[in-house]
Amino acid sequence: MTTVSEELRNVAPEKLAVEGVSKTFRTQRGHVHALDNVSLNVREGEFVCLVGPSGCGKSTLLSIIAGLESTDSGQVLADGKPVTGPGRERMVMFQESALFPWLDVLGNVLFGLKLKPNLTGKERREVALFYLKLVGLENFIHANIHELSGGMKQRVALARALAPNPRVLLMDEPFAALDALTREQLYGDIQRIWAERKKTIIFVTHNVREAVCLGDRVVLFSPHPGRIQEKFEIKLPRPRDINSVDLAKYSTEITRALKRHLKPETTEVAE
Ligand SMILES: Nc1ncnc2c1ncn2[C@@H]1O[C@H](COP(=O)(O)OP(=O)(O)OP(=O)(O)O)[C@@H](O)[C@H]1O
Ligand SMILES: [Mg+2]
Repeated sequence: MTTVSEELRNVAPEKLAVEGVSKTFRTQRGHVHALDNVSLNVREGEFVCLVGPSGCGKSTLLSIIAGLESTDSGQVLADGKPVTGPGRERMVMFQESALFPWLDVLGNVLFGLKLKPNLTGKERREVALFYLKLVGLENFIHANIHELSGGMKQRVALARALAPNPRVLLMDEPFAALDALTREQLYGDIQRIWAERKKTIIFVTHNVREAVCLGDRVVLFSPHPGRIQEKFEIKLPRPRDINSVDLAKYSTEITRALKRHLKPETTEVAE
């Protein structure tokens, strides 16, 4: 809910509220306390990056926000209403593109549009082509998935996630498997698309520089149990260059904070 004072200051309304979320997985080998009392508010149009070592519950939190996983306690509100299941308002993009190899590029994006049943076939095609153009793949609409590079596959996955026009995009290490140059191109593209299409994005990464390059805020997690440790506001102008000195200063500060919060056995974090 927007308060009167926020309205007068022209602060964007809250899009997502994660309120005291805890989650324990029970397996034959024992219990894993994946998330412990995690709270996070995300404003409409905000780009928030979640950073932390392997196993600290980032993907679990994303799945809970997506409505794919339940909580043990606490809740997630989207536009003030409790999330009870998945919906086209909140689309997820995973590390592996999870495309359908038996469909071509256009077919994969059209598949995402099944979530919008009211469109005619012609409208569906128009929308799919619009988003394929937005991600720079207009010349590859009939390519087979196995003919594409890793970066192109992630572009298809991005177009598929964008096509139903979700307000919230949940991205789980979407660029982790790509080479540095391809990643840099995609940083530019995702910032452009985020601004043009006015999305709210939650982006998970192991890479602190990537988080600083993309995020309005960077949220640090620590594992066992998964908890939020610190939140950093990134006050750098956009579009940002991942190789800039100012960006490096932020990423040094955040990497130091991460190391402070880590236990000795967990050090899988790239600056
Ligand atoms: N379905 C599941 N069943 C049992 N345990 C699970 C399940 N999903 C996640 N976990 C456990 O919960 C913890 C958090 O997992 P999660 O995948 O959310 O971590 P993460 O921060 O995304 O890690 P990574 O950076 O490696 O992707 C881990 O210890 C993991 O083994
Ligand atoms: Mg994960």
